[in-house]
Amino acid sequence: ETLWLVVPAAGQGRRMGADRPKQYLELDGRPVLAHTLARLHAAFPGARLCLCLDPDDDRFEPAWVPFAEWRRVTGGAERVDSVANALAAIAAEAGDDDLVLVHDVARPCVTVADLQRLRAALTDDPVGGLLAAPVADTMKRDDGAERVASTEPRAGLWHALTPQGFRFGLLRRALAAALEAGVTVTDEASAVEALGLAPRLVSGRRDNLKITHPEDLALAGQILAAQRACAAG
Ligand code: CTP
Ligand code: MG
Repeated sequence: ETLWLVVPAAGQGRRMGADRPKQYLELDGRPVLAHTLARLHAAFPGARLCLCLDPDDDRFEPAWVPFAEWRRVTGGAERVDSVANALAAIAAEAGDDDLVLVHDVARPCVTVADLQRLRAALTDDPVGGLLAAPVADTMKRDDGAERVASTEPRAGLWHALTPQGFRFGLLRRALAAALEAGVTVTDEASAVEALGLAPRLVSGRRDNLKITHPEDLALAGQILAAQRACAAG
């Protein structure tokens, strides 16, 4: 069965405030992007990769891509546009029932074990699903002025991580409908949910950090070191 990987890597990393997009910041001697692609390749060496890059990106180096079969796709204005571009680019070759895993380039700490568990969990799933982690903190909702309006029941709340995996035909339909409706979708699952379907929550490691803020880079380095120490990478 063909496995497609879509890696949106066309973001600017504004919240990082660095001199370059966060996927090109150095982590352990190589760019974040190289780490992320290496983890995906270790889990799925035969997968077909679609990498979404900003058309003006002059930092990308093909040597960072370990996959035998891959293509570069032009990113869009938002993450969802980048992913939609990737799906359009593979539409001639992908079958409706092919599994597509979408993974943020900014999540280099995802483990091979979690990647393979997700894929296994989705093998016979009619909807698809995502790696997710139960919320540990008590959740507060603010009143708009940095005071607590309410405490949200934590039970049943999860952090949505990536990868998120769906069948090509369903994902394409879901993203097209979301873009058409003009609703904000920050992940694939929410677009599928909008069709009335219930993606599967596959419990994943909480250290699958999305590098977002400046302090996250050092944290990601520590996570990778800790994973190496217990051979989880
Ligand atoms: N992404 C993308 N195309 C966009 C925006 C984001 O491919 N137009 C990708 C990013 O490269 C990242 C993932 O989507 O891998 C998650 O986005 P986010 O963490 O928000 O990254 P950035 O958009 O780069 O960061 P920021 O929002 O702080 O600018
Ligand atoms: Mg963003």
